[in-house]
Amino acid sequence: MPNEQEGDFAVLLKDRARLTKVVMASHPFDVVGWDGYLYPFTFNANDFEPITGTVHLPPPIHQTFEIRGYVVCTFAPRWLDHHPEAVKVPWAHDNTEADEVLFYVRGQFGSRKGVEPGSFTLHPQGIPHGPHPGTTLKSFDAQRTEELALMFDTQYPLQLTEEALALDDPNYPLSWMG
Ligand SMILES: [Fe+2]
Repeated sequence: MPNEQEGDFAVLLKDRARLTKVVMASHPFDVVGWDGYLYPFTFNANDFEPITGTVHLPPPIHQTFEIRGYVVCTFAPRWLDHHPEAVKVPWAHDNTEADEVLFYVRGQFGSRKGVEPGSFTLHPQGIPHGPHPGTTLKSFDAQRTEELALMFDTQYPLQLTEEALALDDPNYPLSWMG
């Protein structure tokens, strides 16, 4: 039920550490609903064509959503970098400003060994990672990838639930040792 009272109603707005008092002429709950933008959104990854170039381009070319606190990148089937000497897998990096979660949906993942459809990886910010041994050389002959994967880069560090910890593969960090 909306509250239709009229009068002076003080509302305290909090913006980080700052408080601002606003006085309204009617009760703030004088509403029957909110027609905002919180609705399910579908996105067909098959319709997404990431930009490609002569050399390997950084992850923002795959970015499909930006939400407060994280971005979503869609690694969709695509033609790969086309310079004759292009390295067609990502370079080693340590994403210093984001925790990086990857969900491998389908296909062969050119830069990784030991992941399969349904796998999740989590690379916390500041932890170096890159192509698995052998995948860089193998990438020279590739012209296209049919992989589909989703990446979530988060602004703040993630805390793992007990359920997530139970799925942890303790050998994953060793998988770069060849
Ligand atoms: Fe990464």
